[in-house]
Amino acid sequence: MASKVVFITGAGSGMGQVAAKRALLAGSAVAALDVNAAGLEALGASERLLKLVVDITDPAAVKAAVERTERELGPIDRVINSAAIMPLGLLMKQDHALILRIMSINYGGLVNVARAALPGLLSRGRGDFISFSSIVGHVPSIYMGAYCSSKFAVCCFTEGLYHENRKSGVRFACVCPPAVATPLLDQARDTVWPKMFNLAPPTTPEKVLDTMEAALEKGRFWVMPEFGTLVYYWMRRFAPNLLWRVIHRVEGV
Ligand SMILES: NC(=O)c1ccc[n+]([C@@H]2O[C@H](COP(=O)([O-])OP(=O)(O)OC[C@H]3O[C@@H](n4cnc5c(N)ncnc54)[C@H](O)[C@@H]3O)[C@@H](O)[C@H]2O)c1
Repeated sequence: MASKVVFITGAGSGMGQVAAKRALLAGSAVAALDVNAAGLEALGASERLLKLVVDITDPAAVKAAVERTERELGPIDRVINSAAIMPLGLLMKQDHALILRIMSINYGGLVNVARAALPGLLSRGRGDFISFSSIVGHVPSIYMGAYCSSKFAVCCFTEGLYHENRKSGVRFACVCPPAVATPLLDQARDTVWPKMFNLAPPTTPEKVLDTMEAALEKGRFWVMPEFGTLVYYWMRRFAPNLLWRVIHRVEGV
């Protein structure tokens, strides 16, 4: 990895945590943000590691985290927006406040990080700005409406940033994985487990991150790990009614 200072949200678990470990192994300095202090502790100790217990829905705290990172580790070279939550449920049964909280963390958190960290990358004319959306940021599904809405917003916001700044020298990527074997899936187990999740085994964080690095090297904005992800993407584009019929049949709704 060419990056020297990496700023990662959701670094206390799953793909953010694997990305943080990889960056440390590669010799980078890492600012690891999460609300999960125990998850950050699991990263171990290093003079190149800054553990920051920050709620990304708090714009002032995110701004302070960016400032502290640049003061203590140096200018940020790579931003990885990985923090998210995924409680599932039917839209009219899911708690109203929870629907808004999903949007506030998954989308609002990204907006806060972009406002705080991206100006530095743009002014230096280099760096990577990476958002984790999901294939369900392109393909809506039953039981996932609130989460899908937040991930559609992540795709749209990041795609806008990319095109508005395409001559800036900053590389942008929007990662859209299928199900990945991380603790995030436990939130579905604790609420509703869509039967669509049973159609293919989850992929691994390592595979997703490898695909992300390859896409960045090739200058590709959309990162879609696994062939099945592309099938969903193209079905949504060219046969949306057929795809909905499949979802209705699988979920029995
Ligand atoms: N795991 C999957 O199946 C899957 C599939 C597609 C996309 N994604 C996306 O990939 C990204 C990483 O997911 P993961 O599977 O590693 O999830 P994860 O649950 O393992 O990790 C997410 C981390 O975000 C943190 N977080 C939640 N709210 C926060 C807040 N307000 N402020 C700061 N941190 C907060 C959590 O504490 C957690 O440590 C997410 O954006 C997720 O939506 C995951």
